[in-house]
Amino acid sequence: MNFIEIKNFTEQLIAWQKKQGRHHLPWQENRTAYRVWLSEVMLQQTQVNTVIERYQAFLKRFPTIQHLDRASIDHVLAEWSGMGYYTRARNLHKCAQTVVDQFDGVFPKDPKKLEDLPGIGRSTAAAIAVFAYGQPAAILDGNVKRVLARVWGIEEDLSKGAAIKKLWGHAETLLPQTSADLVTYTQGLMDFGATCCTQSNPACLRTSSMTCPFMNICVAKKSNLIQKIPLKVKKVKVLKVDMKWWIVIHDGQVLLEKRAEQGIWAGLWSFPEEISLPKNVQQIDLSPIKHVLTHRRLNIQPKKVVLKKNLSKINDNFSWVAFSELSNLGLPTPVKSFLKDLIQAHDGA
Ligand code: ADE
Repeated sequence: MNFIEIKNFTEQLIAWQKKQGRHHLPWQENRTAYRVWLSEVMLQQTQVNTVIERYQAFLKRFPTIQHLDRASIDHVLAEWSGMGYYTRARNLHKCAQTVVDQFDGVFPKDPKKLEDLPGIGRSTAAAIAVFAYGQPAAILDGNVKRVLARVWGIEEDLSKGAAIKKLWGHAETLLPQTSADLVTYTQGLMDFGATCCTQSNPACLRTSSMTCPFMNICVAKKSNLIQKIPLKVKKVKVLKVDMKWWIVIHDGQVLLEKRAEQGIWAGLWSFPEEISLPKNVQQIDLSPIKHVLTHRRLNIQPKKVVLKKNLSKINDNFSWVAFSELSNLGLPTPVKSFLKDLIQAHDGA
């Protein structure tokens, strides 16, 4: 990269952001470190539109880092329910506890210190440092990798160490020199990747009211490589998993199991998959449910059992939960929607 290329890219991106970027996202208002951090963690693996819907509700429930620190993990998981990738919620809770215990409730300004906190990687640390504190730091999430790889014609597999190193080098070199432009530039990188230089059907290949400011310098565009960059690598195989759910009901309560800390829906509450039931109780097979996770395709067979008498003994990680108490628990999405239907049927019965 020469000096002119760098200056051009940075200036054009800032100009693009001012005209065509997003300016009224909820986390762009009142940019405290707590609000910025929460938004960045939510946005790591959840679409902007979903985050817009969930962000205010989370802040209402946990208005400050102290509220989050004092909350139980079950309440945090319940509020996170439906957004997936629950490790984020567990790390969010751990991070709040660390910031309260070690930093008096104030997020550090230094991106290196931010990166040491649970759930904060190098790019998220940089976004917090820029948006909350105006500290110069480079972001490099999936969208930014794609933009830089196209503009500079990086044809390698972007998950490999050498390409990642090159991209971080570019990201740091391109940072604006004036701190006044840092926020606009960083938001510009995110918005440009999310709305203009998209993975499929980017603005340069579609009829769009949006124009790409890099048409004349983009190596991928000039070499007709837009659809080849970033290089697509084979996805990991999705495994089929058969699962049984025992829907055991007694006296307005349902039996739930807290799942192990590892594996599918780690730490969330679901239906028991194995259980010993008294002989001769009636088991009703309900309609099977299909649910797709990132690496698994679940085929779930729910089996309903209504008990007149309580079970004499249940496992330590099982718990009877009243229908009215379910909203306080972290439940995986399919469990939550299944229970909603179940309660409706129960109320209607
Ligand atoms: N994706 C990650 N961080 C974001 C932000 N602050 N605004 C919009 N999209 C984002």
